[in-house]
This record gives sequence, structure tokens and C-alpha cells, in this order.
Amino acid sequence: MSESLATVSYIGATILFILSLGGLSSPATSRRGNLYGMIGMALAVLATVFGPRVTAAGIPWIIGAMVVGGSVGFYAARTVQMTQMPELVALMHSLVGLAAVLVGYASYIDTSIQLAGAEKAIHEVEVYIGILIGAVTLSGSLIAFGKLSGKIGGKPLLLPGRHFLNLIGLLVVIWFGKVFLGAHSVDAGMMPLIVMTVIALLFGIHMVMAIGGADMPVVVSMLNSYSGWAAAATGFMLNNDLLIVTGALVGSSGAILSYIMCQAMNRNFISVIAGGFGGGAPAKKVGAGETAEPQGEVVPVNAIETAELLREAKSVIIVPGYGMAVAQAQHTVFEITKHLREKGVNVRFGIHPVAGRMPGHMNVLLAEAKVPYDIVMEMDEINEDFPDTDVTMVIGANDIVNPSAQDDPGSPIAGMPVLEVWKAKTSIVMKRSMASGYAGVDNPLFYKENNRMLFGDAKKMLDEVLVALKS
Ligand code: TAP
Repeated sequence: MSESLATVSYIGATILFILSLGGLSSPATSRRGNLYGMIGMALAVLATVFGPRVTAAGIPWIIGAMVVGGSVGFYAARTVQMTQMPELVALMHSLVGLAAVLVGYASYIDTSIQLAGAEKAIHEVEVYIGILIGAVTLSGSLIAFGKLSGKIGGKPLLLPGRHFLNLIGLLVVIWFGKVFLGAHSVDAGMMPLIVMTVIALLFGIHMVMAIGGADMPVVVSMLNSYSGWAAAATGFMLNNDLLIVTGALVGSSGAILSYIMCQAMNRNFISVIAGGFGGGAPAKKVGAGETAEPQGEVVPVNAIETAELLREAKSVIIVPGYGMAVAQAQHTVFEITKHLREKGVNVRFGIHPVAGRMPGHMNVLLAEAKVPYDIVMEMDEINEDFPDTDVTMVIGANDIVNPSAQDDPGSPIAGMPVLEVWKAKTSIVMKRSMASGYAGVDNPLFYKENNRMLFGDAKKMLDEVLVALKS
């Protein structure tokens, strides 16, 4: 492939990536957005593999690596459960970071790159910054993977003087950057490069360890952004324009998503990065999935009573959460919605921005079950409507409907906006037990006078509710 054809293909791929991001901004256009992204990526890979920079001798190596990587990716995509997606994404971000580190070292020791003067200095700055971002992304994403998969506890690690430690780390990295740029040989430059890599790896670990469970959504999107900047840095080191543009698109969209997440959770972005959020008062905190001391009476109901409440309602708001994803109950939820709407009930959905375990998790599940988009509302669009609602059905959600976020300033989720389901005439919470959610905080909603608990697996219980509704 000629240089100009490769360039045209790169421009085509860039346009497709931008269209893809645009498509992903709404559930109605997201399939098309995905398709644009896939075509763009196929074009980018073909233009790179068969482009002017790859020699014929290198092609079998690249194809071999693609077969191995593609097989692992294919296997992972087939076997990973939807609820494990955030862990998989975190693991993939770590690979982008690792790639940036390896490319950085390789291009520093590559003797075929003969540069002098300003060009040499620019290349070395690219290498230093590329490895720095890559190493932070690598270790931070691995810790995020550990936290999201439950292999590492969600409790924030608050080292004494942690901000001071971060500052010292930053100053040492800047100092060694100066030493690195002043080195006259690769051997002399290696020592500052390795010291900086170790500090960056430690910083990545410290940064994510210091973040509490409830703030993990911000970390997931932040590491997404970092992986984009790591890819852009790799593009600079390899002199590949498409990688720079693609990395910048991922980096900036991830940064915007992190900002949106912070706003949704009422968090200060800098404070979340610096760590220490999500810890809260120990007296109120229980381990994720554990049950705290009872705070009053709970009123259990069965499926028949739930169907009765729904049948008598004029307006219903359904609030899905992580448990609906675990139970894969979305199709039964759709059937119930359809049945109630046919009977003239106004049924709508209230979606919290951090419901589930990844951005847009609930929207994807509801779209898969063919729930019409126009009845799926964002938290801000629907929160004021709860007082005029007869029944709210909370399906496997917990933290996102926890009133202590508003009432208890010492709570780890204090300040996080929540769906005010308790303001409806009756709220029904479907879950298997009294256990806490991801943030490990007890939920006073369960003990409210107008709340009912429907205990059991969400799919099983909703199937029973549907049968009762139809009988
Ligand atoms: P959670 O607070 O995690 O609560 C989910 C509830 O579902 C649990 O209390 C669990 O109770 C119940 N459940 C589990 N399996 C079930 C099943 N088969 N049937 C019925 N219920 C089941 O979920 P949420 O309300 O969606 O809030 C999300 C949380 O995850 C927030 O704290 C958020 O910060 C965090 N988080 C979000 C993201 C993103 S980006 N969305 C990423 C990382 C973390 P039982 O065990 O009693 O059934």
C-alpha cells in the first residue's frame, strides 16, 4: 500500500471514529456508532499492517500476534458475563498502559533511530512522558481490576501524609526527567528512566488504592481517559498520526465522562483523584454484600401482593440496578412493562448514572430487552415525579436509592444524588436479602413505613409477578 493510500485510509478511519463516538451518545444510534467504530478499526489495522512502514518480513510476525491476541479477545468476549465487563475493561486498559511502557523502552534503545539536537530532545520527552502515563495506567488499572472483581477490598487505603507523598513523587519524577534529558548515552539514561517507571507504577497503585468503593465509577472512566493518553503517547513515539488522534479521542471523551460522573455523584474531580473519598464513618459502614444491624421493621410482600399493588397503580416508576443485571431479569421487566402499559398504567424507568457496574449498564440491558427509549428517563428528568407516583419498583438496586446519601453527612455516599423512590406512595424493593450494595452502606429505605420488600432472585420473583398479573 502506498504512503498516500495509507494516509487516506487513516483519515477515513479517523472520521469513522468520530462518527462512532457521536453515535454512542444516544441508545437509539449506538448500534450504528458501534458499526462505524468496527469499520474504522478494521480500516486502521489494514492500512497499518499493509502500509509502507511494515516490511514483508514483518507481516507474518504481525499476523501471528494478531491471531494470538484476537483469539484471547474472542474467547474473553464470549465467556465474560455482562456484570464482569468493568473488570475486563480495566484489564484491557492495563494492557494499553503496558504497551506504552514497552514501546517507550523499545524506541529509546532502538539504535536505528538516529536523531540529533531538538529532534532528539523531543523524542526523549515523548519517551519519558509516554512511559510515565503508561506505567500509571498499567498499575492503576490492575488495582482497579482487583477492586472491581472483589479480589482487593473496596475500603480506601489512606496512608498518613498521602498528598505529601504524591507531591514528593511528582518532584522526583521531574528531577529524573531533567537527568534523563541530560544523559549522553542510552546506558546513562536508563537509570532515571527505570526510577521514574517505578515511581509511576507506585503512584498508580496508591492513587486507586486510596479511592473508596462508591467512587469506583469515576476511577473506571478516569483510567479509560488515561489509556487514551497512553495510546496517544505511543503514537508520538511511533510517529503514527492515527494512533495520536485515536488516543486523543479516547483520552478526551474519557475525561468528559469522568467529569460527568463526578457531577452525577457530586464529587470534586481533583479530590477523587487525590484519594480518600468513599471511606466515610466506620460506624455506619458494613462490608459490601454484608448486613448491618436492623434499624427497624421491614415489611415483606410476596409476588401476588406485588402484582396487586401494580394492578391498582396509575403510575409506576421502575428503578433497575446491578441485581437486575445479575439476575438477567430485563426481559421479564419488559414483559411486565408491556402488560401494565396495555392496561393503561403510565410506566417509566428511572436510571441513575452509576447504576450497575459500568456507565450506561442499565440502558444497554433495557435496550437489549427492547424497552422503548422514550420511557427510559435520566435521574434528573424523573426525580421530581416520585411524589406523584403510586408504585416504584426497585429491581436489584441499593446504593442508588439510599436516602442516607441525603440524610447522613457521615455516610460514605453522603452528597451523592440518589433516586428518591421513597417519595412515591409505595416503594417495593426486590433483592435476595438485607445485604448492602457495592458501597457497603446500610440502607434506611428498607425500614420506611411505605416500603415493601420482595425477597428473592429478581428474575424468579418477576416471573411470578408476571404470572400473577396475567391471572
Ligand atoms: P448495588 O448498590 O451494588 O446493589 C445491588 C443489589 O442487588 C445488592 O444489594 C444485591 O442485594 C442485589 N442483587 C444482587 N443479585 C441479585 C439478584 N440475583 N436478584 C435480586 N437482587 C440481587 O447496585 P446499584 O444500586 O446499581 O448501585 C451501583 C453501585 O456500584 C454504586 O455504589 C456505584 O458507585 C458502584 N459502581 C458503579 C460503577 C458504574 S460505572 N456504574 C462502576 C463501579 C462501581 P442482595 O445480595 O440482597 O440480593
